[in-house]
Amino acid sequence: MKTIGVIGAGQMGSGIAQVAAVSGYSVLLYDAFPGVAAKALSRIQAGLEKQVDKGRMTLAACDAAVAAITVADTLEQAAQAELVVEAAIEKAELKKELFAALDKAAGPDTILASNTSSISLTEIASATGRADKVIGMHFFNPAPVMKLVEVIKGYSTSQDTIDAIMAVVEKMGKISVLALDKAGFIVNRALDPMLNEAIFMLEEGVGTVEDIDNAMKYGCNHPMGPLALTDLIGLDVILAVMEVLYREYGDSKYRPAPLLRKMVRAGKLGKKTGEGFYKY
Ligand code: 3HC
Repeated sequence: MKTIGVIGAGQMGSGIAQVAAVSGYSVLLYDAFPGVAAKALSRIQAGLEKQVDKGRMTLAACDAAVAAITVADTLEQAAQAELVVEAAIEKAELKKELFAALDKAAGPDTILASNTSSISLTEIASATGRADKVIGMHFFNPAPVMKLVEVIKGYSTSQDTIDAIMAVVEKMGKISVLALDKAGFIVNRALDPMLNEAIFMLEEGVGTVEDIDNAMKYGCNHPMGPLALTDLIGLDVILAVMEVLYREYGDSKYRPAPLLRKMVRAGKLGKKTGEGFYKY
């Protein structure tokens, strides 16, 4: 594989594009909103230049990675790759529409991957005529830093597709784990109920934002507290995952915290909107 298409140039899509470019792939970066992919490319360049300043990367490697990313003007252009990784917003209908369009535009051997954190890969694959070549490639935020990629096998994903993706993950210098297509996969099924519980505790007045975060930071050695992490990931993303867990397993332990829902309705989505549990 030489070229990777990335669909969606938000937080995750731009991180994935950066990881792919730094690992030696050519990248076609597309976002449906005009100008967003070009802005993401500038952000990637600025981030890589900081790595050069810190002496962690050579200027030549930085320039090569930036030059490896092309902003694609259309989805069809971005589909001209051996692997396409979709990182659009978490809406099943939208992802299915995107995959149907990618299926039409891409060559017959192209693997179509989704970075979904909560939507069934089997359902996404049903929008294509190549379910054996549809797979989950779930990166973690911030993608350039976090080591893990969860590889998710849909109902019809072939072993050849899994092997090809495992090789890409290895070339990216990341660790892979294989998960079945069950809601939340591995990480979000374990992590998000903990984040949701922290929000319940805040609502009940068990502790302040700072105390809840400090408790988990210094009591459990987590790199950041659950409320700060929810701000980093995005409250809308956590709500979407909790809703899927609640619906799919039908267990009240996954009920989204009412405060989470209220803050999403108020547009307080965390770092990306300038305010969540903290102000940025
Ligand atoms: N993009 C690129 N690099 C970043 C970054 C970003 N958004 N944020 C931090 N970094 C880099 C910094 O540049 C720094 O790199 P350097 O060592 O080369 O200088 C390094 O990460 C460490 O950053 P800082 O010194 O600023 O801060 P910390 O040491 O506190 O690390 C952190 C920041 C890596 C975000 C750390 O706090 C952490 O690991 N937090 C937990 C993150 C986590 O759990 N993510 C998973 C979320 S779940 C998910 O994404 C799934 C989804 O489906 C919901």
